[in-house]
Amino acid sequence: MLGQYLLLPLLASYGAAVTISVAKSGGNATSGLQYGAMEEEINHCGEGGLYAELIRNRAFQGSTKFPSSLDAWTAVGGSSLSLKNLTDPLSTALPTSVNVKGTGTAGLTNAGFWGIDVRPQKYTGSFYVKGSYKGSFTAALQSASGKVLASTKVTSKSVANEWVQHSFTLTPSKKASSSNNTFSLTFDGSKASGGSLDFNLISLFPPTWNDRPNGMRKELMQAMADLGPKFLRFPGGNNLEGDTIEGRWKWNETIGPLKDRPGRATTWQYGETGGMGLVEYMEWCDDLGMEPILAVWAGLALNGDLVPEADLDFYVQDALNEIEFLTGSVDTKYGALRAKIGHPDPWTIRYVEIGNEDNLNRGLSSYKSYRFPAFYKAITEKYPEIQVLASTIDMTIPGTAGGDYHLYDIPDNFITKFDMFDSYSPEHPILLGEIAATETNNGVGIDWSNTYFSLYPWWIGSVAEAVFLLGAERNADKIIGTTYAPFLMNLDSYQWSPTILSFNSNPDETARSTSFHVYSLFNHNHMTNTLPATSPDAFGPLYYATGLDNKTNSHIFKAAVYNSTADVPVSLTFDGIGRGTNADLTILTAPDAFSMNEVGGSNIVKSKTTTIKAGKKGEFSFSLPNLSVAVLSTK
Ligand SMILES: *[C@@H]1O[C@H](CO)[C@@H](O)[C@H](O)[C@H]1NC(C)=O
Ligand SMILES: *[C@@H]1O[C@H](CO)[C@@H](O)[C@H](O)[C@H]1NC(C)=O
Ligand SMILES: *[C@@H]1O[C@H](CO)[C@@H](O)[C@H](O)[C@H]1NC(C)=O
Ligand SMILES: *[C@@H]1O[C@H](CO)[C@@H](O)[C@H](O)[C@H]1NC(C)=O
Ligand SMILES: *[C@@H]1O[C@H](CO)[C@@H](O)[C@H](O)[C@H]1NC(C)=O
Ligand SMILES: *[C@@H]1O[C@H](CO)[C@@H](O)[C@H](O)[C@H]1NC(C)=O
Ligand SMILES: *[C@@H]1O[C@H](CO)[C@@H](O)[C@H](O)[C@H]1NC(C)=O
Repeated sequence: MLGQYLLLPLLASYGAAVTISVAKSGGNATSGLQYGAMEEEINHCGEGGLYAELIRNRAFQGSTKFPSSLDAWTAVGGSSLSLKNLTDPLSTALPTSVNVKGTGTAGLTNAGFWGIDVRPQKYTGSFYVKGSYKGSFTAALQSASGKVLASTKVTSKSVANEWVQHSFTLTPSKKASSSNNTFSLTFDGSKASGGSLDFNLISLFPPTWNDRPNGMRKELMQAMADLGPKFLRFPGGNNLEGDTIEGRWKWNETIGPLKDRPGRATTWQYGETGGMGLVEYMEWCDDLGMEPILAVWAGLALNGDLVPEADLDFYVQDALNEIEFLTGSVDTKYGALRAKIGHPDPWTIRYVEIGNEDNLNRGLSSYKSYRFPAFYKAITEKYPEIQVLASTIDMTIPGTAGGDYHLYDIPDNFITKFDMFDSYSPEHPILLGEIAATETNNGVGIDWSNTYFSLYPWWIGSVAEAVFLLGAERNADKIIGTTYAPFLMNLDSYQWSPTILSFNSNPDETARSTSFHVYSLFNHNHMTNTLPATSPDAFGPLYYATGLDNKTNSHIFKAAVYNSTADVPVSLTFDGIGRGTNADLTILTAPDAFSMNEVGGSNIVKSKTTTIKAGKKGEFSFSLPNLSVAVLSTK
């Protein structure tokens, strides 16, 4: 009996070990940006997500697509709310305000982005009001049942015929039992001349990441920081393109004081305030040490409308203006504008992507013939150090430009694409700008009419992604970097799943997905150089990439096992690494192929790290189970 027990772990593996020999040199430098992040205003990624603003519909912004409304607002007590386009609005950008009328306690309540997180911390709020009022306002947070959780009085400075901004702070003494809370702003209607007041831009922020005003939600930024993204592709995605030419993302409407940002209709069923604009994206990059990959609008809208060649120059110039705004000295026109709004120091932009998915929506032929060439020429002439990227690889990419490849598919099809980059030329580096396994294996491939993509990444999908990522890492001289997409999802209002992080209004319930754990493991074992490996065995069911971190001289083996009938024994040697060398081996597994990490749930990915010693011939011997992702790094 004892013998049988001892034999079991060995029997679980069968056959000879996969023997892998890694050479000392002959590899390639990697881009250094391996894994990044992608911004797309979808799923309330920014608004109601990373952007920490707690008030939904704070400035009653409207568009032809989403007319201004009282969405998320309700009247307090017997008061009444009506939207007004006053002849003297708060600003040209914010023409619509709310008039609150009432005789006793009057005011309005906001439901937040499906709740407001209330805990003992300082909330910073402000609002604009117009109308003669001698009294005070009360700003408060309360539970769904009406229990006051924090409240403060704000002495009125309000006068007739002028918009006056008021500020306040709120500090709850206790954590609320849930995030099903609301914010309200009230006043004494009997003391307001005419019995009503006009309000606009009502805002409330919790503490933000790095304490930036107009900043980002802390725990989501913490999750991103833990993932360690090296780049950010922004501002989309379809969000950049817009439904129509006029509906495109316009950089210069997202900068400066919030009252001067009109907001716009996103392409994803809701409007954005413009609060998370170009400067906020750059600060996000600064805060997490991400390389910005700036996408500029390229003359194609999602409805297929195209800017004809004769009219394209305006948009090319606008892209140059945007780059000058970000990178120009304060002596330039747009560099001076940046300084004026508080950022005298220029940023560095090394990558600019021209458009998004220009191979779709009848865009490819104009993209090839005049749109891409015009942007490419203008940008490289003025900024020769910028790596320009096409938004597709479905074309012959000119000059030194690179491309962007997107992949949404079933897990099996990630495996068949493991070797897709082996035949690519490093002349035109590729960004893997949107990658995700979206639906379960069906023997065919992705079904775009299937609106039931998986709600969350699930384990077999994450392992399949790992196999594809390893194919990219093996070719890291040709790949700029890879990002999961879309990135974030507010479970209370989303348009596209799965995403790498999911959340609701309660920061304690944020889910770091199974794919998050895979990307995080690979990202934290960054290779500066690939090293060639040889093996008598073909790839599959074990897939791997090998290399070196030349900063620490750590030799790295990254692997995934997919579709194996048994554990895979491995015997791994690195030329130059001898007997007795220690290595850390981390193996990720999950209870079953369909396990996923859900909002409010616990993490099902098991991560086990052991230290193993190289044997007589310098070999590291270990075994990797079916559906596992692993990294070995020498010490
Ligand atoms: C390095 O790049 C060259 C050219 O792309 C390629 O032939 C070679 O196989 C690469 N080496 C490794 C280890 O990937
Ligand atoms: C590490 O590798 C990178 C990429 O090949 C190279 O640029 C750098 O000079 C190397 N650093 C050292 C210390 O060897
Ligand atoms: C305010 O003006 C916008 C744009 O013209 C219009 O769509 C909206 O209906 C107006 N709202 C009100 C309350 O008059
Ligand atoms: C929040 O409270 C409201 C009012 O009591 C209730 O209708 C709603 O179901 C609650 N939402 C959640 C998510 O508990
Ligand atoms: C933004 O830039 C475009 C192109 O230069 C210009 O036509 C437009 O007036 C600008 N908008 C704002 C709000 O500055
Ligand atoms: C999975 O394994 C089966 C049996 O060996 C094989 O037929 C199939 O092609 C494999 N699928 C993938 C995606 O590797
Ligand atoms: C390995 O994983 C694949 C994919 O989930 C599954 O079909 C197969 O049964 C697993 N093999 C074993 C031995 O568990």
